[in-house]
Formats: sequence, structure tokens, C-alpha cells
Amino acid sequence: MDPDEFHKREVSYIKNPNDDPEIVKAIDSFKAMSTYIAGDYEDGSAFDKLNAHLEEIESHYQSKERNRLFYLALPPSVFIPVAKNLKEHCYIPKNGINRVIIEKPFGSDLDSARELLGSVKQYWTEDETFRIDHYLGKEMVKNLLVLRFANVALGAAWDKNSISNVQITFKEPFGTEGRGGYFDEFGIIRDILQNHLLQVLSILTMERPVSFAAEDIRDEKVKVLRCIPPIERDDTLLGQYVAANGKPGYLDDDTVPRNSVCPTFAATTLWINNPRWEGVPFIMKAGKALNEAKVEVRIQFKDVTQGIFKDIARNELVIRIQPSEAVYMKLNAKTPGLYTRAMPIEMDLTYKRRFTDAKIPEAYEALILDALKGDHSNFVRHDELDVAWKIFTPILHWIDGKAGARPRPVSYPYGSRGPKELDPFVTKYGFKRASEG
Ligand code: BG6
Repeated sequence: MDPDEFHKREVSYIKNPNDDPEIVKAIDSFKAMSTYIAGDYEDGSAFDKLNAHLEEIESHYQSKERNRLFYLALPPSVFIPVAKNLKEHCYIPKNGINRVIIEKPFGSDLDSARELLGSVKQYWTEDETFRIDHYLGKEMVKNLLVLRFANVALGAAWDKNSISNVQITFKEPFGTEGRGGYFDEFGIIRDILQNHLLQVLSILTMERPVSFAAEDIRDEKVKVLRCIPPIERDDTLLGQYVAANGKPGYLDDDTVPRNSVCPTFAATTLWINNPRWEGVPFIMKAGKALNEAKVEVRIQFKDVTQGIFKDIARNELVIRIQPSEAVYMKLNAKTPGLYTRAMPIEMDLTYKRRFTDAKIPEAYEALILDALKGDHSNFVRHDELDVAWKIFTPILHWIDGKAGARPRPVSYPYGSRGPKELDPFVTKYGFKRASEG
């Protein structure tokens, strides 16, 4: 595309329904700051052109220091030539920093990820590389550290003695419309579970880091991930949406191969073999084309010991990541009145109500700022990625058909809660609905 087309596209996502002149001014100044250069990924001279363009921009600043942050959101096939060309043609040898942010997919299994990591490493050091997982920039994911380690009451109940099961859920109300071609190669496990939900799980379950320093945090994440054995087929439920409620099914998408068995929904249970978590099921669920948009962590505590109270609801701590960030705790309290009866209540911290003036930053906003500052805390380290792929590769090879026949996902209607097999699946791991007591 040409630069005009680029500017048109880039601002087309900015909403200004009432034509507010302040917003128009901000958009114009943003446009003036962003420029567009087209070129071939494999062509070194295109990167020389980019470099000359950057030098021209830099010449307008007085500071001798030049800082370059490259952001790669690319198909894996061109990743390596771009990493190489940037290093060879656009790298500043002194008086500045050079950093590269890399978007997923970081490979498609353990071997391909190792190959990719190895190749990028030839050009960019670990210190210069920022592997982005935007879930790590979400306010409520960052909040997990504070909730866990700044509250004695929660910290004390954070283990197998108090917790029965944990669910980490991702729901989207739209299908792969328009992105089917991309999606079909990866499937929901590579798109959501192996990265976003596993990152949430690692922060939820790691031991307390020695400090907030990036390496201390990432050391603890790697340690807990290494305690998770590869996922078992029996612990996995796969689904694919079919047409319903006037919406097309996955296979109706022209960009999706006919007869594709790619899962658009997956639920899978992970186990952590360490003294804190042994025996606690961590159920991850993610699906496209469901009934609502919701990402949450639901920690269900054990039944209260039988005695004076029978059949009362379990405590639950719910951390809603989106939409409408919230933390709420389901407890039991006395029904007001003359009799002593317990009833379920909620202690509710909904951010919109509690922090009326707060502006919650977008995940990417927070993470790009971290990369500019050189803070790796919320980026994925090479060994973290390696262990994440170890957990998921066997199940993915089974789904891909590399380990024999491909499993056929069960169907669920577009706009539903997911496959009907989901309720028995979570019950199998000890989850009890509140009404079951
Ligand atoms: C991306 C996935 O990483 O995350 C998409 O590739 C998904 O399929 C998106 O829609 C979800 O991000 P968010 O921030 O909207 O939850």
C-alpha cells in the first residue's frame, strides 16, 4: 500500500463519533509522527531504505542517543530473514539501544520453537528480545501478583489444603470470520491456551519471587511450569462450532479447508506436581463463537468441614480479567433476622465502581512502555517458552495427526456455552455449581 492508504487504515480504528476537534488534532499529530516504508522481507536493500529513513527522522533530534524498537508481527516463515535484515541493515552500533518485540506464533511445537529461538538468537541477544504475550499486560493479570503476595489472608489459603479446583476461562462471542485461514493452521490451543492462559496459570501458581526484578519473576514462573507434566488426551475435550442463530459454522468459512478437524474450543486439565499444588486440577477452557465475551479465573475452595453447617456453597474467588475488571469473593453470611441460617453472598470489587476515575491502560500500551524502558518482567523468556511447548506438544501432535489418527472435535452451536460435554467435564474434576451446595 502507499503511505496515504496506510494512514487511512491506521486511524480508521480510532473512534471519534462526535467529531471532537481535540481528538481530530490528536489524530493529525499522530499521523504526522508515523510514516510508512514498503519493501520485501528478504531484500537487504529495502532495509537500507528503512535505515536511511530512520536516520532522516533521527537527524531532527538534538540528542546523540538513538533508540530503536522494532516490532515484528509476522508469519513465522519470514521471521528469520527479517530478524537478520534488521540486524544487518538497521542496527545502531553505538549511542543507542536496539530492541525487537516479537509477536506469537513463536513456533508451532517444541522443535519449531527451538529452531526459531536459535535462529533469532544469532542476531538478537536475549536482552534485546521482547517476546510479547499481551495477556501479561492486562491489568488484572498484573493484579494477581499483588492479590497473592500482598494479602496474608489469601496467601494462607493458596494451596491444595484449601483449594479444590481452578478454572481459567476464555470466551469470545465471535468466530474466526475472515481469519479462518490463519486460525486453521494453529487451532485454539496454540492461539490461546499455550500462551495466554498458561501465562495466567504460571503467575497464579508460582512461588513468591525474591523481588520484582524481571529475572526473579521469570525464574519462579519457569520453576512452576517445569512441574507440569505434558497434557493427557483423557484430560482434554475438543470442540468445533457449527452454524446456529443465523451465524455460520466454522466449516462454512471459505478460508477454512472442508472437513477441517481444527478445534475452535478446548478444555484441558493441567496438574502441578509440587507440594503446594499436587492433586489440584487446573482446568483451562477457551472457545470462539460462544455466548459471551469473558475471561476469568475462578478459584473454588474446598467444602467446609461437615458439622454445624451442611450443604452450604463453597467459597469462590473470581478474578474477572475482562470485560469489566473485577475481583469478587463468594462467601457465606448469616441471613439477616432472628434465625441463624447461612446464605451465599458476594464481596464485590468491580473496578468501574470502586475506581471511578482510574484509567486502565490497554495491555499493549503497558507492554510497549515496558519494552521502551527495557523491563522484561512481563515478556516471555526463552526457557519459559521451551517449557510451555513441552507441556503442549504431545497433545498438539495428536490433534495434528502426527501421532496417528486425528481426533474429531465434538460440535457446539455458534452462540452457545460450548459443547454439552463441558458440564460433565468440569464436574469430573470436582467443580461444584453453587446450587449443588
Ligand atoms: C490473540 C488471538 O492472541 O488474542 C486472538 O490470536 C484472540 O484469536 C485475541 O481473539 C484475544 O485478545 P483479547 O485481548 O481481546 O482477549
